[in-house]
Amino acid sequence: MIHLYQEKGVLEIAFNRPEKRNALNLAGYGDLIQAFDRANKEDEIKVALLHGLGGHFTAGNDIQDFLDHPPFSQDSPVLGFLHCLAEFRKILIASIEGWAVGIGTTLLLHCDLVYAGQTARFQLPFIDLGLCPEAGSSYLLPRLVGYQKAADLLLTGRVVEATEAGEIGLVTEVLPPEQVLNHARGQAKAIAAKPTQALLATKRLLRLDNKERAQEVIRQETQEFTALIQSAEAKAAFLAFMKKQKDAS
Ligand code: COA
Repeated sequence: MIHLYQEKGVLEIAFNRPEKRNALNLAGYGDLIQAFDRANKEDEIKVALLHGLGGHFTAGNDIQDFLDHPPFSQDSPVLGFLHCLAEFRKILIASIEGWAVGIGTTLLLHCDLVYAGQTARFQLPFIDLGLCPEAGSSYLLPRLVGYQKAADLLLTGRVVEATEAGEIGLVTEVLPPEQVLNHARGQAKAIAAKPTQALLATKRLLRLDNKERAQEVIRQETQEFTALIQSAEAKAAFLAFMKKQKDAS
């Protein structure tokens, strides 16, 4: 479910499950781990560019998968992907069109640059799913947007429009939707052409302060998440989503 394309030092990693709004299932997380691993190891790749095919970034974790394969074990590809994100050595850029929900928003906190179309929408709906924040977001989000704004987004689970996302610093730049991917590609290529050692050192230094802490928070979030995902509240929320979709079709 991941489409890869490499050109001039940039590995494009595109979510490719448009019929499910690019919701990430276990196979998708496995593909992402491989793609991030490749980008980390191959010297010629300087930048990874994440985007979604079909007009959306990603609707987050596949909710049916939450029911069928909840991420309990340490070898879950979901957890593997979160650690890949936190450990990524190369420059990580995201280009957002349409929905970026759940992990679709929390993974942005591990990106160095985020470009969004004016119609992009962001949401952290964990609270209404009976879950807690993941991907280190309970630590990284307050650092990025301030404590009360982070609490607002995580406690209400409300939708954030692109303009607000730009204003609070969740995204670097907001552009007309038809220009966003080309702009992100241009920036990715320009950055990939910079001196490599300086690029990697700059990334290391930018993340110096929060890399280990983010990993530690991911572990703590995982403990809470693992308990919550087994709760009656969470199961009821997942079933309600699946039922709503079934009734609508
Ligand atoms: N998990 C599983 N399937 C999902 C999904 C998800 N996270 N998000 C969307 N889909 C599926 C829908 O079930 C539907 O499938 P179907 O056509 O077989 O019924 C299809 O993708 C299209 O979704 P739909 O809701 O009709 O699209 P929309 O454009 O009206 O709304 C969203 C888009 C993202 C607002 C909506 O799909 C949504 O809220 N998704 C759930 C987001 C979420 O809570 N993610 C988990 C975060 S932890």
